[in-house]
Amino acid sequence: MMFEKRILCIGAGYVGGPTLAMIAYKCPQYKVTVVDINPTRIAQWNSDDLPIYEPGLDEIVKAVRGRNLFFSTEIEKEIKESEIIFVSVNTPTKMFGVGAGMAADLQHWEKTARQIRKCSESDKIIVEKSTLPVKTALAMERILISSDNEIHFDVLSNPEFLAEGTAIKDLEDPDRVLIGSRETPSGLKARDQLVEIYANWVQRERIITSNIWSSELSKLVVNAFLAQRISSINSIAALCEKTDADITEVARAVGMDSRVGNKFLNASVAFGGSCFKKDIMNLVYICRSYGLDEAADYWEDVVKINDYQKEHFVLNMLSAMFNTLVGKKICLFGFAFKANTGDTRESPGIFIAKRLIEERAELVITDPKALNNAMIDLEGIEGKITYAEDPYESSAGCDAIAVMTEWEIYANLDFEKIYRSMAKPAFIFDGRNILDHKRLFEIGFNVFPIGKPALTHF
Ligand code: NAD
Ligand code: UGA
Repeated sequence: MMFEKRILCIGAGYVGGPTLAMIAYKCPQYKVTVVDINPTRIAQWNSDDLPIYEPGLDEIVKAVRGRNLFFSTEIEKEIKESEIIFVSVNTPTKMFGVGAGMAADLQHWEKTARQIRKCSESDKIIVEKSTLPVKTALAMERILISSDNEIHFDVLSNPEFLAEGTAIKDLEDPDRVLIGSRETPSGLKARDQLVEIYANWVQRERIITSNIWSSELSKLVVNAFLAQRISSINSIAALCEKTDADITEVARAVGMDSRVGNKFLNASVAFGGSCFKKDIMNLVYICRSYGLDEAADYWEDVVKINDYQKEHFVLNMLSAMFNTLVGKKICLFGFAFKANTGDTRESPGIFIAKRLIEERAELVITDPKALNNAMIDLEGIEGKITYAEDPYESSAGCDAIAVMTEWEIYANLDFEKIYRSMAKPAFIFDGRNILDHKRLFEIGFNVFPIGKPALTHF
């Protein structure tokens, strides 16, 4: 079959896989290929057991794989054959040298740029899909034009706003698609080609364009704003615990102000995920590098509050359980950084598990999708940790349950049965405020929500 366009994505991760699967699904006229240096990941994408769990993803991949969606490790061949290349490699926080702990580590990004330059034999549009520091497109352009051939490249910024757990819905019906370009005739032409791809299923009014630097920066800023809301509500949750106010009631009153809005106001044990902290620290680093220390301090505090929130949760557990956790058995309900994903990157569960082990508690960890990742995250930690899929089996004999992830199943468990099987006094620390606290108290639990008065029998 003749395809209208050949589109490639370098990087078959949480973003590259689902995003390009959606393009292939909505645009049968294009040939879409996703490549990766990791052969195991590509083999998984080609199997019945996809490398990531995302509701609705299996169905889409099954519908288009082998039709116009292909997963491959032949990076060089695919670069040669494609006209549009999305780059969606990982851009983690740099952990060494200048900017360690803050700046973006651009090594994978740069390698990709060099490989594209080396293998290209025709003009191409390069689309930044990864989240990058503002001005990164300049580096990409400089690498691409540094060869002595006549090939022309246009670099576009097209950040991804999908959230894990709702990726398919977010891709199918995005709030907006943002495309940043150079304002040259060639840059604008390239931009229009990318607009045309998305216009296959996204309403035109939702496809917005901007200059390339605004686009790069907007991605960091959206994540910073979202995380800031969580830190704001969590800081108030701590105050609620001291003052008998209830964070759910406060969030409702605040969120009903249409100027504030009600999303992202759920107090929690802390935000996790691979991007919020990384992107804010990147923003902080950029501000500092331009001498904007006050702006940098402001955003850094969002991360500080989040770190404080996790420690605060552990200290609450310690003080509620008579100031010692030695030998006590604690069951973590959930380990994923949020519900409906198996991803545990930067999950608050990691920090809390490590701190509880430091206090010499014994842990039982349960999660419907994230146990394999949890085992990798906690590998080598000295202490007693067991893993089990069944929450009833996991909590039996435990002194306490701590809810780390808002999986819906946890709200619907038979807590009378759980209470009977636990050591007494039995404690529940609801790090997501998803349980019926009054009912749990009536059953006999001592209940410690986030940002609400504790319900105890003492
Ligand atoms: P990921 O780690 O899941 O996937 C990245 C993939 O790139 C890996 O499979 C890796 O093997 C591959 N890779 C690295 N170097 C390569 C190279 N030289 N050639 C080929 N493949 C290479 O990362 P992710 O979560 O998909 O994130 C990718 C980017 O998207 C990041 O910049 C991230 O900030 C951004 N982002 C992520 C999300 C999310 O929900 N995870 C959402 C929006 C934006
Ligand atoms: C986030 C953004 O929502 C996406 O738009 C963005 O594309 C993505 O980061 C990225 O750049 O990687 P994600 O991290 O997948 O998506 O998930 P979120 O729904 O944003 O949740 C992040 C964390 O905040 C989770 O730990 C979640 O439990 C927590 N959270 C969220 C709260 O504690 N309270 C809330 O009210 C909302």
